[in-house]
Amino acid sequence: MARSHRHSSKVSIIGAGAVGTSLAYACLIRGSANVISIYDIASQKVQAEVKDLSHGTQFTHSVVMGGDDISVVKDSSVVVITAGARQQPGQTRLDLAATNTKILEKLMPQLVEQAPNALYVLVTNPCDVLTVVAQKVSGLPTAQVFSTGTMLDTSRLRWLIANKVKVSQSNVHATIVGEHGDSEFPVWSSAHISSVPIRDWVYAGRRPFSDQVLADLAHEAAHAAYEVIEGKGATNYAIGLAGARLVEALLSPTRTVLPLSSVVDGYYGLHDVALSLPTLVSSAGIERVLEVPMDASEVSSLLSSADQLRGTLSTLGY
Ligand code: 2OP
Repeated sequence: MARSHRHSSKVSIIGAGAVGTSLAYACLIRGSANVISIYDIASQKVQAEVKDLSHGTQFTHSVVMGGDDISVVKDSSVVVITAGARQQPGQTRLDLAATNTKILEKLMPQLVEQAPNALYVLVTNPCDVLTVVAQKVSGLPTAQVFSTGTMLDTSRLRWLIANKVKVSQSNVHATIVGEHGDSEFPVWSSAHISSVPIRDWVYAGRRPFSDQVLADLAHEAAHAAYEVIEGKGATNYAIGLAGARLVEALLSPTRTVLPLSSVVDGYYGLHDVALSLPTLVSSAGIERVLEVPMDASEVSSLLSSADQLRGTLSTLGY
């Protein structure tokens, strides 16, 4: 399917909750798409959100539309799914699998009927599990159905590293891979600040990135969402920004590398599971999952993250 020459730039966001509306707001103020459409079954809520966002369009360059009729998704280039139950304090993302799988099994065929050529982005958790469900239920190519995955976790990690040694986040090249959840991990063996391997970076006359510090940073990035959920009930702004950045990459002919979750086929021997890896994307969807060099302990972490996800998928019948 030739999807690389898109004329429209319409993104549809499924779910008008905290994540969906933050994503819409981020897309609006960043100018990520010409048309931003929001769909939700909660009629009054979605209409109010569309109005509130539309009232600000004098100061932006996009149109906002939406409602409780699935046809608002028609002609989308990108559909971002945020609908579903959200993590309560103390719950893991995987605890949401059964509930959100049921929602997605109903939703996906309706969406594909409206926008068969769109790229589908799963944000709802557990996003890796739901990527497999969405791909299988829809029968769409794996290049067309994927997830923001560890984009957000990677951004959290880069923010932590940048703050620790007072350097711009744009100079930090470190990526979290695997599950968007408890079994994720940073690929430290290839992490750099500028072109200096992270362990060799000097700050205040010494090398701050010891094994212990790296382990602490990994733990802090992986557990950041729990803290935010404890404090305010949900995470929404940062995922909104990550989603908007991904929408921009998907509406652009330029190929961009982002840590995204997609169904892998043979990567380190893995099949039938979706997890995050550095991935080349464009308006054609997923072009290639990059072969990232990993040391033996990283390969073993990747395989055990995949095992964890496969375990959940099989309890759901996938
Ligand atoms: C996050 O990482 C909860 O998955 C959501 O913020």
